[in-house]
Amino acid sequence: MSTTTTPWSRKNPFPARLLVNCGLSGIYSANDTRHYELSLADSGLTYEAGDAVGVVESNCLNLVQDILNALHCTGDELVPDANGEPKRLRDALWKDCAITKASPQFLQALVEKAGDSAPFLRELLTPDQKEALEHYLEGLHIVDLLEEHPSARFSAEEFVKLLRKLTPRLYSVASSPKVHPELVHLTVATVRYESKGRLRKGVCSTYLAERVAVGSLVPIFFHVAKGFRLPEDGDTPMIMVGAGTGIAPFRAFMQERIATGAKGGHWLFFGGQLEKEDYLYREEFEKMQADGVLTRLNTAFSRDQEKKIYVQHRMLEHAAELWKWLEEGAHFFVCGDASKMAKDVHAALHSILQTEGGKTAEEASKYLETMEKAKRYKRDVY
Ligand SMILES: Cc1cc2nc3c(=O)[nH]c(=O)nc-3n(C[C@H](O)[C@H](O)[C@H](O)COP(=O)(O)OP(=O)(O)OC[C@H]3O[C@@H](n4cnc5c(N)ncnc54)[C@H](O)[C@@H]3O)c2cc1C
Ligand SMILES: NC(=O)c1ccc[n+]([C@@H]2O[C@H](COP(=O)([O-])OP(=O)(O)OC[C@H]3O[C@@H](n4cnc5c(N)ncnc54)[C@H](OP(=O)(O)O)[C@@H]3O)[C@@H](O)[C@H]2O)c1
Repeated sequence: MSTTTTPWSRKNPFPARLLVNCGLSGIYSANDTRHYELSLADSGLTYEAGDAVGVVESNCLNLVQDILNALHCTGDELVPDANGEPKRLRDALWKDCAITKASPQFLQALVEKAGDSAPFLRELLTPDQKEALEHYLEGLHIVDLLEEHPSARFSAEEFVKLLRKLTPRLYSVASSPKVHPELVHLTVATVRYESKGRLRKGVCSTYLAERVAVGSLVPIFFHVAKGFRLPEDGDTPMIMVGAGTGIAPFRAFMQERIATGAKGGHWLFFGGQLEKEDYLYREEFEKMQADGVLTRLNTAFSRDQEKKIYVQHRMLEHAAELWKWLEEGAHFFVCGDASKMAKDVHAALHSILQTEGGKTAEEASKYLETMEKAKRYKRDVY
C-alpha cells in the first residue's frame, strides 16, 4: 500500500464518494450492520487486504442543538479552533469536538461552576469514590450533565476548551484491491443504544448510516496494518475466526486469494447471534464453499438455541483437524471483539494444543508465542 505518492493522509483525508450503503442484518436482528462502498477514483490511493480505513466523521446536529440549548447559546458565538482561528461554536461542536461522553476534567469544571448545588457530584470526585464515579458516569453524557445542572453556566469558549478532540474511527477493509481497485468496502455495526431514557448514537457508525447520503463525500484515510496480512505464499493454508463485523477482513482475504489463484486451504469460523438475521455475506461465503475455494466453513449462532454456541466451541469440536492444519503451517487469524471473543478464542487454541498436540500448558503457550513471532498468529481486534 502506498499513500506516499498521493497528497492524501490522516491530516488531509481523501473525500471518497459513498456509492453504496446497504443493510446486511435481517429485520429482526438486534444489530444494524451495514455494507458500505466508497469510491477511490482519481485519488491515487491503494490499500491491501488487512488494512483499515479511517473515517473522519462529524457529530449529529440534533445533539449539537441539544447542547447549544443547554448552554443557552445560539451557536454563532466564536471560539478558537485548533489553530487559534475563530470558529462558530456550532461548527466546532459539529466537526471538531467529542460531545458524547464526559471527561473527568469536564466533570470537575461542572462541579466548580455548579457551586453548592451539586454536593453529590463534588463528593463523587474525591479520590476514594473512583468506583462510584465510574458507576455514575456509565451511560451519562455531556448533554445530560448540562441539563441536570443548569446552575453550571459556561461561556462558549470555556465549554469548548473542556472537550476532547473528535477522533476518526477505524474500519477493517472488507474488499480486495485486486478485485475492486477503485473501491473500498466496509462492514460496520451501527451503534445505537438507550441510556438515561435517551437514544444514544455511536458517532461514526451513525454518521455513515444516517448522515451521509449516498452520492456524497466521506473524508477517509488508510491505516496500514502490517501485522494483519495474508501469508506471502498462496499455498499456505489459513484459518480465519471472526464474529459479527469481524468477518470484514476475511471477505477481503478471500477475494484476494481467489483473485490470485492461491492454492492453500481456507477455513472460516463465523459467529453471529441468529442464523436467519446475522449471517453476514452468507451467499458469498456459501458460494465460495460450493466452488471449493473455501475449504471449510463452520458457523456458530449463539442465540438459535438455549445454550450459547460461539466460534471457539466450533473450534473445539473440530480440534483434531484444526491441530492438523496448524502443524501443516496454517496461519491463524482472529478478528472482532477484543474484550471477550479474542481471549476465549486464544484459550480454545491453547487448549487444542494440549489435547491434540499433547503439549503441556507451558509448551502450548510457547507454541503460540512462536506462531506470533513467525507472524502466523494474527489478530485484528477492537
Ligand atoms: C483496527 C480497528 C478495526 C475496526 N473495524 C471495525 C469494523 O470493521 N466494523 C465495525 O463495525 N467496527 C470496527 N471497529 C470499531 C470502530 O472503529 C468504532 O469503534 C465503532 O464503529 C464505534 O464507533 P462509533 O463512533 O459509532 O461509536 P462511539 O461514539 O465511539 O460510541 C461507542 C461507545 O458507546 C458505548 N456503547 C456502545 N454500545 C453501548 C451499549 N449498548 N450500552 C452502553 N454503552 C454503549 C461504549 O462506551 C462504546 O465504546 C474497528 C476498530 C479498530 C480499532
Ligand atoms: N467499539 C464499539 O463500541 C463497537 C464496535 C463494533 C460493534 N459494536 C456493537 O456490537 C454490536 C454488533 O457487533 P458485532 O457485529 O461486531 O458482533 P455481535 O453481533 O455483538 O457478536 C457476534 C457474535 O459474537 C458472540 N459473542 C459474544 N461473546 C462472545 C465470546 N466471548 N466469544 C465468542 N463469541 C462471542 C455474540 O453472541 P451473543 O451476543 O449472543 O453473546 C454473537 O453471536 C452492535 O450492536 C454494535 O453496537 C460496538
